[in-house]
Amino acid sequence: MSELNLVGLCGSLRKASTNRMLLNEAARLFDAAAFTEADLNLPLFSQDIENGPGIPPEVQALSDLIGSADAVILATPEYNKGTSGVMKNALDWISRTKNAPWRDKPIAVISASSGMQGGARAHSMLRTLMLPFRPRLVPGPEVMLGQSGQQFDGEGRLTSEMGLKLLTELMDELRREALRMRQG
Ligand SMILES: Cc1cc2nc3c(=O)[nH]c(=O)nc-3n(C[C@H](O)[C@H](O)[C@H](O)COP(=O)(O)O)c2cc1C
Repeated sequence: MSELNLVGLCGSLRKASTNRMLLNEAARLFDAAAFTEADLNLPLFSQDIENGPGIPPEVQALSDLIGSADAVILATPEYNKGTSGVMKNALDWISRTKNAPWRDKPIAVISASSGMQGGARAHSMLRTLMLPFRPRLVPGPEVMLGQSGQQFDGEGRLTSEMGLKLLTELMDELRREALRMRQG
């Protein structure tokens, strides 16, 4: 087990989310000392909240959680050809916190959808959305799990050999990047 502290963001709030299953499989393969899934059930972003009561405590807690992580995995569903409103809302809120938690943060993007292409458009959109925050985005391999409702066994284990191979490679890359950043 590595000494690394891993955080996951899941863009689907659904209890039986296949993105959460994929995220949990990614965390298992990363083999972190600690894994925490962030809570993205946040208020909808409004500048009236920001300029009135201020950044909600749960948003600041999310930003701090990301800031303290050695690596972060973002798992996105595809809703109408893009990432989910849940994910975008979280990113918008986080961008308004003072600590700039994404800067130089090792991150990996993964996606799962019931379509054949595994949420390719949402995946690509999320990568683009992350770039202005200047994280250390691991470029690949791309993990986009299609027909995601049929890809896990009863224990939530990914059954696709190819899916496991790509996810293992991606997590190896993310761990390497996190160790590099830790060593300065
Ligand atoms: C509002 C909505 C829009 C969707 N749009 C797409 C889409 O554009 N492409 C796609 O592959 N699947 C689409 N889906 C199906 C999702 O991929 C599927 O519900 C998936 O299981 C969601 O991820 P989750 O299992 O993590 O909740 C859509 C589902 C919903 C509810």
